[in-house]
Amino acid sequence: VTSKTAPTTRIDLWSDEVLRDPYPVFAQLRELGPLVHLERHDLWAVTRHAAAIEVLRDYERFTSTHGVGCNDVINRHGRGILATDPPFHDTLRRPLSGQLSRRGLERVADHVRNRADELVATLVDRPDFDAVADLAEPFTVSIVAGLIGLPEADRAHALEYAEAAFTCYGPMNARTQASLPKLEEFLRFCRSAGSRANLRADGWGSAVYAAADRNEIPPSTAITLIAAYLGAGMDTTISAISSALMLLGEQLDAWQELRADRSLIGAAAAETLRLESPIQRFTRVATRDTDVDGVPVAAGERLLVLYGCANRDERRFPAPTRFDLSRRTAGHVAFGFGVHACAGQFLARLEIESVLDAMLTYVERFEVGTPRFQLGNMTRRLARLPVHVLAATPR
Ligand code: HEM
Repeated sequence: VTSKTAPTTRIDLWSDEVLRDPYPVFAQLRELGPLVHLERHDLWAVTRHAAAIEVLRDYERFTSTHGVGCNDVINRHGRGILATDPPFHDTLRRPLSGQLSRRGLERVADHVRNRADELVATLVDRPDFDAVADLAEPFTVSIVAGLIGLPEADRAHALEYAEAAFTCYGPMNARTQASLPKLEEFLRFCRSAGSRANLRADGWGSAVYAAADRNEIPPSTAITLIAAYLGAGMDTTISAISSALMLLGEQLDAWQELRADRSLIGAAAAETLRLESPIQRFTRVATRDTDVDGVPVAAGERLLVLYGCANRDERRFPAPTRFDLSRRTAGHVAFGFGVHACAGQFLARLEIESVLDAMLTYVERFEVGTPRFQLGNMTRRLARLPVHVLAATPR
């Protein structure tokens, strides 16, 4: 029996002001408690690291099958991989688990590294460019859409829908309303661009159809699964790559440390993901009367897990706002945790690290201008990051 109750707040996590800089509000929420009732949206924010892990690890108490968004339309939208629990969830995860494993990715690692190298090598000649539009976007689109097997001509279109594919998971605000029709367009696009005939035979999309042909997944799920990988793999990685450059551009000492020791690249990627978590939130629903960190939750309540807030929890990461290459970042939840932990995390790391590696090869130092954020309901990502580079010599 517990006497704790959850504090409540009128804070709107989706106001422009909070989306632009959520961190002061996150600190306030963590201070209020591990679980805070958001009155405006009737959601229970999971604020602290230990509480986030408790919720994400236990799908029997906190299910994804009622959807992982914050509005009824998206939560009733169908049962994609995100909105399932084991055992069906594991069935949907299997077709691409080999390709996306650390070992499976060895086959494509050189291709990813070469693409990053080529792109950065041409950009440093300019020497002013936008790290989002000129680097993170074209790089990520060519890698993810390329590996799925989309023809060149269709790849750029995929990006148009990437943000909408996440934002429609928000509460029913103006952003969600604007993005729901785009989600329909995205699915239409996937049905044509991601059709069997249009995909390269050796790509991941074709592997999903092959799994359907072997009855390993229901054939009707193939196209939504391809859409999930395409949708999940774009804005997230674009965010991480551009945030890494923003953070390193702001901290010359960290850049110098990396230049002296490239074995720290992985740490730089992890610190970026912890500090500027590309996916900021998804939800779960309590299947029974239970508690989180001792705070009671009733069956049917919807919990909003704040990955980006948990990753700055001072109880888990001392001096959490510092970008620290020597930090033990293991345990950050930027890729989630538990059965839904990101299926593409090794690819994402490979992409981020390849870009940083190429930057270290071709760039002596660089300056960043004023960053602009694209305000999405579920993600945090830059829209624009002007960069001025001084090329490394000799080339
Ligand atoms: C830095 C980049 C990325 C970040 C931060 C990220 C983050 C996440 C998070 C937090 C989840 C868990 C959702 C939940 O708890 O319900 C997730 C799931 C997922 N991600 Fe990623 N992701 C990234 C890149 C990618 C890439 C490159 C791909 C694929 C090409 C991908 C594919 C997926 C898929 C398919 C799921 C659903 C997994 C499941 O429900 O079992 N992600 N991702």
